[in-house]
Amino acid sequence: MNYKIPRGTYDILPKDSAKWQYVQRIFRETAASFGYEEICTPIFEMAELFERSSGESSDVVQKEMYRFQDQKGRDFALRPEGTAPVVRSFVENHLDLQGGRHKFYYIGPMFRYDRPQKGRYRQFYQYGIELIGSNHPFFDAEVISLEMQFLKALGLKKIRLEINSVGCAECSSDYDAALQDYYRPHLAELCPDCQKRYEKKPRRLLDCKVPSCKVLRQDAPSQLDYLDAPCRDHFAQVQSYLNDMQIDYKINPAIVRGLDYYTNTAFEIIVDDLGAQNSLAGGGRYNGLIAAIGGKDTPAIGFAGGFERLLLAMQNEGISTAEPLKPQIYIIGIGEAAQKVVIQLLSQLRNRGIYAEYNPDKSSFKAQIKAANAMGAAYAGIIGEDELSSGMISLKDLASGEQSTVDPSDLPNLLIESKNKESNNL
Ligand code: HAM
Repeated sequence: MNYKIPRGTYDILPKDSAKWQYVQRIFRETAASFGYEEICTPIFEMAELFERSSGESSDVVQKEMYRFQDQKGRDFALRPEGTAPVVRSFVENHLDLQGGRHKFYYIGPMFRYDRPQKGRYRQFYQYGIELIGSNHPFFDAEVISLEMQFLKALGLKKIRLEINSVGCAECSSDYDAALQDYYRPHLAELCPDCQKRYEKKPRRLLDCKVPSCKVLRQDAPSQLDYLDAPCRDHFAQVQSYLNDMQIDYKINPAIVRGLDYYTNTAFEIIVDDLGAQNSLAGGGRYNGLIAAIGGKDTPAIGFAGGFERLLLAMQNEGISTAEPLKPQIYIIGIGEAAQKVVIQLLSQLRNRGIYAEYNPDKSSFKAQIKAANAMGAAYAGIIGEDELSSGMISLKDLASGEQSTVDPSDLPNLLIESKNKESNNL
């Protein structure tokens, strides 16, 4: 039996893991610089949580959830997204009763049974933030600026921000009615999915990828003409804050988002050379969600992005990420008697956080030096008969070839200093 990885998933091999750690580190640092702290929630939740939040008629719930029953017949789903679990945790831990602003960030795998293709997987990794507790339009702009700051820190340039307002519960129902009026004479021309959308969630008609539906939507009414006065004002203020922050954006009334919980601001970051899966990140306000799942009515906004698309975009722009891990020192023990000293030295160095390598498989000195060079080690530490009798270590700088004799107790500090010097010179 040959075991195969499930379709739409992938392994991150050690040769690639430094890249993943790098982008995650920059995201964590950016989130921390805006005052966000990490939240971790389970990868499975009650399936009903996603039905209530993402919407029963959304593709995510209708077609894409990995749903299962446990041994006691309880209905669970692998999380298709991170917002509903954060909100569930917020309410369950009574944070809604504390008032004030709460800032969360998360990183983790999400699951959607979608047709796999470049940039679209069945298990994918999202990074995201949620700011719960304010409806001030400044925070809409600030949340967007966090994502822009993150992408800038990574060096991405070919990205654009598109924003829209999907209105509040009242004005969005006026808009749904206007869309139904517009589409009614064309019902027979719509694809079967859109015929269902027409009944259940008319704005989803704007998101259809079927060519004939795309043509029809060109003359559909615009969401922005149906915003009520407070929603119009909120959207104008978001734009004004974005202008003050010198963040470029385009207004795109066709942004509807695939999940049902959005109110007011909705936005996406687009990267054109990613092909069909060109949305790098997306988010928006969801002022009704906390009350909808049983908490105190509390406004909120957030976004999430996919690491896979991010890494693809970086690759397309020729942005290199982290260097592979290289040993600071490769220890060579010559002869049986050296082995004990080598093992003690290895643990002393590793206790100080120094990456030290040793490989007793390689017998000759020549083979050991070759291995040290091949791994890109900065130094070789040699312990042979002479070193054993003097209690010292021979240290060879593998870049310059210079050799010196050092006291083992001085070695950790010497290696740490040399590493610091190297990173200051980068
Ligand atoms: P979303 O637009 O469904 O929003 O997903 C956000 C990002 O996750 C997408 O822009 C994309 O980069 C990535 N993504 C989604 N599906 C896949 C997939 N099948 N394969 C690879 N990447 C994928 C949300 O999930 C909301 N929870 C965002 C949010 C947070 N809104 C408010 N707060």
